[in-house]
Amino acid sequence: MTIETNRLRDLVATELGRARDRTTLLTETVDDGDLIRQHSPLMSPLVWDLAHVGNQEELWLVRDVGGREPVRRDIDELYDAFKHARRDRPQLPLLEPGEARKYVATVRDKVLDVLDHAPLEGARLVERAFAFGMIVQHEQQHDETMLATHQLRTGVPVLAAPPPPAAAARVGGEVLIPGGQFDMGTSTEAWALDNERPAHRVDVQAFYIDRAPVTNGAYAAFIDAGGYDDPRWWTPAGWDHRQAAGLFAPQHWVRDGAGWAHTRFGRTSPIVPDEPVVHVCWYEAAAYAAWAGRRLPTEAEWEKAARWDPATGRSRRYPWGDETPTAEHANLGQRHLQPAPVGAYPAGASPLGVHQLIGDVWEWVSTDFHGYPGFAPFPYREYSEVFFGPDYKVLRGGSFGTDQAAVRGTFRNWDYPIRRQIFSGFRCARDA
Ligand code: AVJ
Ligand code: FE
Repeated sequence: MTIETNRLRDLVATELGRARDRTTLLTETVDDGDLIRQHSPLMSPLVWDLAHVGNQEELWLVRDVGGREPVRRDIDELYDAFKHARRDRPQLPLLEPGEARKYVATVRDKVLDVLDHAPLEGARLVERAFAFGMIVQHEQQHDETMLATHQLRTGVPVLAAPPPPAAAARVGGEVLIPGGQFDMGTSTEAWALDNERPAHRVDVQAFYIDRAPVTNGAYAAFIDAGGYDDPRWWTPAGWDHRQAAGLFAPQHWVRDGAGWAHTRFGRTSPIVPDEPVVHVCWYEAAAYAAWAGRRLPTEAEWEKAARWDPATGRSRRYPWGDETPTAEHANLGQRHLQPAPVGAYPAGASPLGVHQLIGDVWEWVSTDFHGYPGFAPFPYREYSEVFFGPDYKVLRGGSFGTDQAAVRGTFRNWDYPIRRQIFSGFRCARDA
C-alpha cells in the first residue's frame, strides 16, 4: 500500500466524519417529535433524510464496493427517493429516530472497515475513492436539505452560529469578461459528479457580469418600484406563478414598518441591505434582472467568470485558484447561518474581480439543466440524467449551507424555477 493511498484513506475518513458531525448536529438539536414531523410538504421529515443517508451509504459502500451482506435490505424501498414523493414520506413506516441513529452508525462502522480494505484504483467506481467521495457529497447535500428544513420549521430556535465576516472591500458594479473559448466542466477532478463531465471547449461572447450577487437592498428597490405588480418584467410562466402563489417578496420576508424584516432559523430581524438576497425563485430572479435592464448569466458565462484565468487561459478549480476552500475564501459549510455582506471575501475573488461566486447563496443562471456533449451517466442515471430537460434550471456556486466537499467551480445544482425554500439568490449579467 502506498503512502498516497493511505493519505487518501485518511482524507475519506475525515470527510465522512465531518459529514456525520453535521448530520448529527442537524438531527440532535431537535426532539423526536420534531424529527418525525413534516415541516413543509416540500421537505422530508428530518428522520427520513437521516436514514436515507445511511441507506445510500449502505447500497454503494457496504454492498457494492465492499461486497458485504446487507445491513437492512428490508428498508431499501422506504428510502428510495423515487418511490415516494417528499409530501408522502411522513405516512411511511419509517425507522424511529433511535432505530435510524443506530442504523446509520452500524452502516458507518462497516464502511470504515470497507475503506481499510477496498482497492482505490482499478474499477472506475473506486478510482481515487470516487464512490466514497460521492457518498460524502450525498450526505453533505442532504445536510443542506436538512438545513432548509430547519429554516421552514416553526418553534423555538435551535440553531445558532457566529455572524459572517464584515465587508473588507467595497464591491459593486460589473466586470467585463472578454469573449473567446474556455474549458467548461472537468475530466480530471476526482470527485466531480457525472453531470460536470466531460471538460469541453465553449465559445462565449464578451459579456458583463456583476461583481457580487444582487443584495437585499437592491431587491427591495425592485419591490418598492412595483416589480411584483408589473407583468412586463416577468416571463409568462413566471407571471402565472407569481399570481397563483401570491408572491410579493422573497420567502421569509415580512413587512417591518416601511421596510422589511426576514425570519432565519426562527429569529426575525430587519434585512441587511448589503447582504445577498436569498430565497428567491428563478422567476423572481429573472423578473428582477429584466426590471434592472439586465439578464441572468448563462451557465457557461457563470462558469467562465468563475474559472477562466486570463493570464494562462486555463480553467481553475475555484475563482481564487486550485486551492481547496478555506474560511478566508468563501462562506461555506454552515459556519455562518446567513449570507455574508458583499465584499466580505476579497481572498475569494476571481482574477477579474468577481466576488462571492462560491458560497453565500446558490446563483440561478438562465440555462436549463442538460448533459454536456459526451455526457455519460455514472454511476447511476437517477443522480442527474433523469432530470435533464426544460423543467429544471441550473444553480451554481453553493450557499452558506453547502459544504466545501459538495461544491466547486464545475459543480451543478438544479431545481424547478418555482423553488425558493433552497438558499437561492442570483447575480445579473448583460451583453457587452
Ligand atoms: C443535486 C441537490 C438537486 O437534493 O435533489 C440528493 C442531490 N441527489 N440525493 C437533490 C441529491 C440524491 C440533489 N440536488
Ligand atoms: Fe439522496
